[in-house]
Amino acid sequence: MEANDPGYFDEQAATWDDDPAKVERAAMVARAIAATIDLGPHTSMLEYGAGTGLVTQAMQADVGPVTLAEPSEGMRAVIRSKVEAGTLVAEAIWSLNLATDPVPEQATRPDGHFDLVVTVLTLHHITELDRVLSGFAQMLAPGGHLCVVDLDREDGSFHGHGFAGHHGFDRDDLARQLTSAGFGSVSFSDCGELVRDGVAYPMFLAVAGDRSTDQI
Ligand SMILES: C[S@@+](CC[C@H](N)C(=O)[O-])C[C@H]1O[C@@H](n2cnc3c(N)ncnc32)[C@H](O)[C@@H]1O
Repeated sequence: MEANDPGYFDEQAATWDDDPAKVERAAMVARAIAATIDLGPHTSMLEYGAGTGLVTQAMQADVGPVTLAEPSEGMRAVIRSKVEAGTLVAEAIWSLNLATDPVPEQATRPDGHFDLVVTVLTLHHITELDRVLSGFAQMLAPGGHLCVVDLDREDGSFHGHGFAGHHGFDRDDLARQLTSAGFGSVSFSDCGELVRDGVAYPMFLAVAGDRSTDQI
């Protein structure tokens, strides 16, 4: 089964955390975000495309209430089992795909908005990027930030032939898309690399600020 196929992430979910590289990557991403954004117990966070919740697990000591959004039922089942075991604290777990679903009413202003939206290695799977980025902008509180960690532009070898998503991202192109989607300032930094089949794929951390705060 390929990464495009419906059910791919359901199938991967039960063994996702068995790969130490995924756990280490989540910890590295958490450190990179904490070094870039002021976090605290009042920081309300949405992790979008949360998978099994590894990134939230690595960040939860530094933030306040976390909502995890994930369209794969298999992944959500792992998240629920971690919540039941007490290894993950979640205010809410949403089945959400912003490419097709409306922005949840409770997440838009003035109520229920997030100070921080984090999404890791998820956007390259999404062809309807403008719609999803605009959804993030609507869910962000004044002064809030979107943090995207994903692959820099690659030659297509990461997912291989037939993958319908993005072959990583050109940073300037993504910055333009974020601005068009309603974000203010956008900055990029290097964020480690992901090694697959002996090839190192560089990753970035993009931080996009809420536009209304930029204009104050
Ligand atoms: C490579 S995994 C990353 C999981 C997690 N962020 C991590 O770093 O361990 C990509 C995740 O994006 C989710 N995903 C794919 N398409 C999505 C979409 N349109 N909206 C939200 N999540 C999506 C998948 O179900 C999967 O859990």
